[in-house]
Amino acid sequence: MHDPIPLVDVKAQYAPLLPSIREAIDAVLESGQFVFGPNVTAFEEEAARYLGVRETVGVGNGTDAIVLVLNALEIGPGAEVICPAFTFYATAEAIARAGATPVFADIDPLTMNLAPERVAERITRRTKAIMPVHLFGRPAPLAELADFGLPLIEDAAQAFGSPEIARAGVASTFSFYPTKNLFGLGDGGLVATDDPDLAERLRMLRFHGSKAKKIFEYVGTNSRLDEIQAAVLRIFLRELDAWTALRREAAERYRELGLGEACEAPVDEPGHVYHLFVSRSPQRDAIRVALADARIGSAEYYLPPLHLQPALSYLGYSEGDLPETERAARENFSVPLWAGITAEQQARVVETVRAAVGVPA
Ligand SMILES: Cc1ncc(COP(=O)(O)O)c(C=O)c1O
Repeated sequence: MHDPIPLVDVKAQYAPLLPSIREAIDAVLESGQFVFGPNVTAFEEEAARYLGVRETVGVGNGTDAIVLVLNALEIGPGAEVICPAFTFYATAEAIARAGATPVFADIDPLTMNLAPERVAERITRRTKAIMPVHLFGRPAPLAELADFGLPLIEDAAQAFGSPEIARAGVASTFSFYPTKNLFGLGDGGLVATDDPDLAERLRMLRFHGSKAKKIFEYVGTNSRLDEIQAAVLRIFLRELDAWTALRREAAERYRELGLGEACEAPVDEPGHVYHLFVSRSPQRDAIRVALADARIGSAEYYLPPLHLQPALSYLGYSEGDLPETERAARENFSVPLWAGITAEQQARVVETVRAAVGVPA
């Protein structure tokens, strides 16, 4: 019996860095400063340099990052924000939490990202922003979306490390949830922007709408990146390009091993950082059963898609409204991928998928 292959092995990624992680956490413990300390400031600067933006603002998680951007831009009640329904629930939830209305546009079946021509159909007088998601690490079509002349807010939770993102829009938001390409050892998030005024407002909103501790200028919230997370993120940021290269190599290897003869494997494109390796097949369920039987991790995403989620039923969508989204939700599945998955593990995955659909070895 073979060893199981997990869907992601985060521990394998950070294990070689344990001595530096422990040292960094020890230094925070020595300092006694756990929020708003030197690591947060340094990480914000280092992340801004990495992303090629003027400012970044650390926050508590990727969901708050979106809510805070919308709050800072005063996009709330009465405003519509166009986003995909084929994304993690937090994208639309954050729009709703800000008091605005998520408006769902269908996706391009090849990329599973927002389709600009479907976005065009959803623009109204009330549209105040478009929120593309760089789904599974693949850059959304930013240049085409920017042509609509509306503010772009990039939900980049799944795409830290892609050189193609974070500079086209008003702001981009990131999550450091432990399976993300750049991750922390718990929750964390970030907003990146070229607008210093927006950054300043975000710094206030993440701390109760206050610059100093006594005067509160806005109703904000408490959503901060903490020192321990920032200290660890600084170490991981230095590894990120090497991790991304390994992810891209692993993706290429899946293609070379012939996964694409058994299902519709993702096509490559510049800047795809393979947060997940998500393929499609009408035989998705049979493939996932075969993978589970072989003790290989797999997952499927966003079923039901967001326009059919109970919490968003007030928006009035029904089945059939977003055909490509609904088909992608029925057909997609991911196979194991992380920075460091071995060629042997990948060969077993491909063999299992091919056997499941009857493609000869
Ligand atoms: C596309 C997308 N948006 C938003 C989020 C929310 O991030 P967080 O879990 O850090 O709140 C996530 C991930 O969890 C995500 O994948």
